[in-house]
Amino acid sequence: MNGNASPPDVPVIAIDGPSASGKGTVAQGVAAALGFHYLDSGALYRLVALAAGRAGLRLDDEPRLAALAERLPAEFCGSDILLSGEVVTDALRTESCSAGASRVASLAGVRTALLERQRAFRRPPGLVADGRDMGSVVFPDARLKVFLTASAEVRAERRYKQLIDKGIPANISTLLLDLRERDARDASRPVAPLVRSPDARLLDTTGMTIAEAVATVVAWFRETA
Ligand code: DC
Repeated sequence: MNGNASPPDVPVIAIDGPSASGKGTVAQGVAAALGFHYLDSGALYRLVALAAGRAGLRLDDEPRLAALAERLPAEFCGSDILLSGEVVTDALRTESCSAGASRVASLAGVRTALLERQRAFRRPPGLVADGRDMGSVVFPDARLKVFLTASAEVRAERRYKQLIDKGIPANISTLLLDLRERDARDASRPVAPLVRSPDARLLDTTGMTIAEAVATVVAWFRETA
C-alpha cells in the first residue's frame, strides 16, 4: 500500500508499552475524547495465534503463519472482533491466546505480513494505535509517541480483575509469572523488540486512574498542535 492509504497529514498517537499496562483502555479513551479511530494491534497477533491453533499450525512455522497473517479473515466491528465472521473477542483474551500471540509476534514474517493492514487504519481525522512497535516501526512519523507502563504487580492485578470480571478463571501469581516471561520475550526478541524509543514520552500509570492517564495523553497531544 502507498502513501494514499496512510496520509502523513493524518495525525497518529502511538501508545506502546508492556502487557496489561492499560494501554488499550487508555488508547480507547483518548480515541473517544478526540473522535479518532483506534487500532488494537495486539489483537492482530492474537488473531493470528487463534487462527493458527484452529488451522492446526505449529507456532514456529513462520512461512505458514506469515501466509495466514497476510490473508487473515478478520474484521473489527465496534468493540467486537470477528474471525471468519465469528465473534472471537473473548477468545482472544484467554491466557493461552496471549501466550500464542507473544510467540507468533516474535516472527519477522508475521510482523511484515501485518504491517500494511495496520497502516490502513490511519484515516481522517486521526488514529490512536496501541501496541509494542507503533512509534518505532509502524508509525515512525506519529505526531505523539507515548510509552505507557505500570509496575508488574499492578499490571498482574489489573489483568486478574479483567479476567474475573469476564468469568474467566485466573490465578494472580501465575499471571505475574506469565507477564514477566512475556515482558522478557517481547523485550529481548530480535525483531521489533518492546523498547521505549527516545522520542516517546513516558507515562507510568501505577498510581493513576484511567481518566487521569487519558487526560494526560490528550493534553500532550494538544501541546503538539
Ligand atoms: O497488547 P497485547 O497484550 O494484546 O499483545 C499481544 C501480544 O502481541 C504480546 O505478546 C505482544 C505482541 N504485540 C507485538 O509484538 N506488537 C504489537 N504491536 C502488539 C502486540
